[in-house]
Amino acid sequence: MEMPTLTIGSRTARLPIVQGGMAVRISLSPLAAAVAEAGGVGLIAGSGLTVSELAAEVRAARAATSGVIGVNIMVAVRAFKDLVHAAIGEGVDLVVAGAGFSRDVFGWCRDAGVECVPIVGSARVARLAERFGASAAVVEGVDAGGHLGTDQHVDDLLPEILDAVDIPVIAAGGIVTGADIKRMFDAGASGVQMGSRFVATEECSASDEFKRLYLEACEDDIVLIKSPVGLPGRAIANPLTERLAVGDYPRIERCKSCLKECGKEYCIMDALQRSQRGDVVEGLVFAGTSAARVHDILPVGELMARLEDEWRTATEEEAQ
Ligand SMILES: Cc1cc2nc3c(=O)[nH]c(=O)nc-3n(C[C@H](O)[C@H](O)[C@H](O)COP(=O)(O)O)c2cc1C
Repeated sequence: MEMPTLTIGSRTARLPIVQGGMAVRISLSPLAAAVAEAGGVGLIAGSGLTVSELAAEVRAARAATSGVIGVNIMVAVRAFKDLVHAAIGEGVDLVVAGAGFSRDVFGWCRDAGVECVPIVGSARVARLAERFGASAAVVEGVDAGGHLGTDQHVDDLLPEILDAVDIPVIAAGGIVTGADIKRMFDAGASGVQMGSRFVATEECSASDEFKRLYLEACEDDIVLIKSPVGLPGRAIANPLTERLAVGDYPRIERCKSCLKECGKEYCIMDALQRSQRGDVVEGLVFAGTSAARVHDILPVGELMARLEDEWRTATEEEAQ
């Protein structure tokens, strides 16, 4: 049996695989376009980019593929509204909004004919999102990389969200193989969002050092950190996370007031930009627990074909 397609409002992807948006500059146009070209949904991460940088990334992705392209922008960033409008102006198919809840984004998307997909962590928020006009919702469990809005596993969250809404629900957190995707579908999901697995691809814009940490990581290396955004985050242990764990925060060099609200313990944007450029000692390497199950760096096309193969195998094994 082939993988089902994923329909989000008026857009349909051949494969039900969303490549999660990853800031800062981890998922840019090369990765998003390659995923869309291979049949999935490719997301460019807008948080930490300037408005003109994001517009240029969307333009490049749009020029490279006619597949389904979107952006992921954290509601917590001060430039949220301008970034969303820039992405819409350049012709994205969908906007994924995480790390906070914005009522306004639904209206901006509706007016432009763009699908709006919030990341939700509870049935209450999922219901609210559906009422405001969400085309689908991403449910991200505690195993996911990056900022976390819940302490629940996606397998536990999914049933209550499915009960609460009729829109397609996309499951995220801890998914790396076609068999994992199958398991989420069996639980009722209409699609999956994967982040960590896509870091270890040739098209991902993370530094080689960042990707190497993924290949070397084992389960014990993946830890929770405190983020000044006000949420916990999941990352690979390194000298920076050891400092954060004891409250020895790096000094803020220059505050650009990039977040609407910031604890100002340290600069999260600076920490994420450093690792993307290759400083994995003082930089923060966001990763899900599933990074421990990632052992190779592949071209996106090969990865997508492998996921389809693994799905088929899991389906056949079940039928026997
Ligand atoms: C390096 C990295 C950066 C991320 N950045 C963002 C982000 O900017 N916004 C967001 O909503 N989610 C972000 N995420 C979460 C992903 O979009 C995705 O939901 C998550 O990685 C899924 O879990 P997985 O890593 O187990 O596949 C990030 C994840 C990683 C690994």
